[in-house]
Amino acid sequence: MAVLACSRQAGTTVGSSPEVEARVDKLLGQMTLQEKIGQMNQVSAGGEVSNYADALRKGQIGSILNEVDPAKINEFQRIAVEESRLGIPLLVGRDVIHGFHTVFPIPLGLAATFDPALVEEGARVAALEATAQGVRWTFSPMLDIARDPRWGRMAEGSGEDTYLDARMGEAMVRGYQGASLDSTSMAACIKHFVGYGAAEGGRDYNSTFLTERQLRNIYLPPFEAAVKAGALTLMTSFNDNDGVPSTGNTFVVKDILRGEWGFDGLVVTDWNSMGEMINHGFGTDRKDVAEKAANAGVDMDMMTYGFLSHLEELVKGGAVKEKTIDKAVRNILRVKMLLGLFEHPYVDVEAARAVQYAPEHLASAQKSVEESVILLKNDGVLPLKGGRILVTGPLADAPHDQLGTWAFDGQKEHTVTPLQALRARFPGRVDYVPGLRYSREKRDNFADVTAAARRADIVLAFLGEEAILSGEAHSLADLNLVGSQSALLAALKATGKPVVAIVMAGRPLTIERDLPNVDALLYAFHPGTMGGPALARILAGEVNPSGKTPVTFLRTVGQAPMYYSHHMTGRPYNGETLLEDIPLEAGQTSLGNTSYYLDYGAYPLFPFGFGLSYTTFAYSGIGLDKKVYGADDTIQVTFTLANTGTCEGTEVAQVYVRDLVGSITRPVKELKAFLRVSLLPGESRQLTVQLPVSELSFTGLDGKRKVEPGDFQLWVAGSSQEGSPVAFAVQ
Ligand code: GLC
Repeated sequence: MAVLACSRQAGTTVGSSPEVEARVDKLLGQMTLQEKIGQMNQVSAGGEVSNYADALRKGQIGSILNEVDPAKINEFQRIAVEESRLGIPLLVGRDVIHGFHTVFPIPLGLAATFDPALVEEGARVAALEATAQGVRWTFSPMLDIARDPRWGRMAEGSGEDTYLDARMGEAMVRGYQGASLDSTSMAACIKHFVGYGAAEGGRDYNSTFLTERQLRNIYLPPFEAAVKAGALTLMTSFNDNDGVPSTGNTFVVKDILRGEWGFDGLVVTDWNSMGEMINHGFGTDRKDVAEKAANAGVDMDMMTYGFLSHLEELVKGGAVKEKTIDKAVRNILRVKMLLGLFEHPYVDVEAARAVQYAPEHLASAQKSVEESVILLKNDGVLPLKGGRILVTGPLADAPHDQLGTWAFDGQKEHTVTPLQALRARFPGRVDYVPGLRYSREKRDNFADVTAAARRADIVLAFLGEEAILSGEAHSLADLNLVGSQSALLAALKATGKPVVAIVMAGRPLTIERDLPNVDALLYAFHPGTMGGPALARILAGEVNPSGKTPVTFLRTVGQAPMYYSHHMTGRPYNGETLLEDIPLEAGQTSLGNTSYYLDYGAYPLFPFGFGLSYTTFAYSGIGLDKKVYGADDTIQVTFTLANTGTCEGTEVAQVYVRDLVGSITRPVKELKAFLRVSLLPGESRQLTVQLPVSELSFTGLDGKRKVEPGDFQLWVAGSSQEGSPVAFAVQ
C-alpha cells in the first residue's frame, strides 16, 4: 500500500516534555540490552507474587495485567522498584472496559446515550476506582467499527458509525487519563488497531479485507481522533487485513500511526497476537514473529514471551537494530514517567476501599443507564399506570448477567436488578414468576406465568442474552431471542394483558418476530450495576428514555452487514415487490432489479440513530447561512426543535451530510454532528450547529484527504432515516 506523504505532527502526542525526555534518555543510557528487552515484556499475573519475584528482580517484566488486589500490586511494585538493579516500576494493566467495580452499561449502551460528556464522566469514575487499587492502564476504549451483529465484540465498541465512535473514544480517553496526568490517571489503550470489527462473517478473529481507502475513511479516523486526544497507548489487533496481521503490519503501525500521526505512546500487542502470527502463516516460529513485530513498531509483547526469548539474539544477529529497541523502551518509560509511577509506585490499600462503589459513582452509572435505554415501541402502555405488575423473564433478576461482557471486577452483590428495584419502587404490587431460569431454557408450557399474568394489570418481561453470549469469541449465527423467550412472549400476549419487553443484550438482536407480541419494547443492552433502578425510573415515567440506536437493528441476520452509511450503488432499491406481495399465481415476472432482498427488502427493523420518547418532537426551519461554501468555511446550520407532546423529554438531534458526487462513490449519508436537547412539553427552541466544511473531507481516488467541490445535501433529524435534505455546494 502506498504510504502517503503527510506532515508529521510536531512534538508529542502523549504530552511529553523536554524534562521527561531527558529523564528517559538518562535512564535508557544506564540500561543493559537485557533490561531494555525486559521492559518490552508483559505478563498476566495470576497467582502468587512470589512466582514472579525472580523475573522482577532480573528486570524481565515491564508490565503485568490481571492483578487488581492493591496489596499484591504493591508487592509486585516493591520487588520491581526495590529489588531490581534500576528500580523501574511496573505498568499495571486491566480490562476496565465499562467501569471497574461500579459497572456502567456496556460501551455499545454508552454509545446509545449520544452523550460524550456523560461517557467521559463514567470513564473518570472507572479511573478513580481502578487507580486507587494500583491499576494504571486500561485496555480501553475499543474503537472497532462494527457493522455485523453476529460479531460478539460489537458489545465492546461504539457501534457502526465513524463519527459517533470517534466522539465516544475521545471522551473515554479524556475520562480515563483526566484533564492532566496525575495519580488518578489511567492510561487509555485504543484498540484493536485496526479493522478488527470487519471480521468476515462476523466470526471473531476472522480475516478482514479492507482497502486503504476504507481504512482511511471509516476505520482509522476514530483512532486518529483518540491519538489527538492524547491516548497514551494502543493495542494491535488479532486480525490479518488483506493478508497482513496487524501485529506485524508496518504500514498501519509504523507508516500511519507513527509516521503520519506522530504517535509517541506505547504500542502493545493483543494477548499472544505476536505468537498467533505463526498460526496466520505470517511467521515460521516465535523468533520470526518477534522480529516482525519489533520491526513493525510494536513496543510491548503481551503473553507471547517472544521479545524476552528472542530479541537479544535478533539484535546481536542484526535482524533487529538496537535503536529499534531503544525507541520501544523510550515509549514505555515515557508512559511510566508521565503517569508518575517512578515517584508514586504504591497505593494506599485502606484508602482504596472507600473509593469503590462510592455513591456518586453509582449515581453516575445509573444516569448512564437512564440515557442509554432505547424506547423502540410504545403502544401507550408506558409509563406504567397503576395496578399489579408481573415481572418475568430470565434477565429480571440476573445480577451477574446484567453487568455484561468484560465486567471482570464488577461484584454481583452490588448489582441492583430490575426485580429488586421494581419491588422497592412499587411495594406490594410486584409479583415475580421467572418463566425461564436462563435465556436458553426450552419450555413449551407457561401455565404458571400466564396464570400470574391474568392476575396482573401489566407484564414486564426481561429478556435477551446472558453476558457470556456476547463479547470476545462469542459470535452468533442466529440473532433471534434464544431458547423459548419468544414463546414466552406469545403465551403472555395470549392472556390479553399488556406486555412490556425489556431486552438486555450485547448486540442488536433480531426481534421483529416478537414485536407483535409486545405493547412496548425497551432496549437496555447490558446496563451494569445500576440497571435495575434506572429501568424502574424509566418504566415509572420518572425518566423519559432518550437513547438512540448506535447500530442498525436488522430484521433478520441474513441482512448482515447492513448500516445506514452505505453507498448508493448503481441500482438503489426503489420499492420493488417483496416476496410476500407477489401474487401466488404470478407467472415468470420481473421481481425487481435493484439492490434489496426479495424476502426482507432493503430496510432494517430500526435504523441507526433511532429511538422513541414518551413525548414527541418536531423539526422545522432547517436552514443554512449560505448556499455556497469555501473549503475553509464553517456551515451555520439552524433549525427549530419543538416538544409537541405532553411531557418533558430529551431528543438527540442528528446532522447528516451527503456528498452527491466524488472522485469515488460516497455514502448516502454520514453523521457529522449531534446534540442532546431537553425540552419541556410545548417548548420549542431554535438551535445552531457549526459544521466546518473541513469535516466533509475524505480520502479520494488520489489518496489525499480533502474536501472535493460539488453539491451536497444536509439533514437534521431524529434518526438516519428521517427528515428532508437542504442543499448546499462547496466550491
Ligand atoms: C483479549 C482481548 C483484548 C484484551 C486483552 C487483555 O484477548 O482481545 O481486547 O484487552 O486480551 O485481556
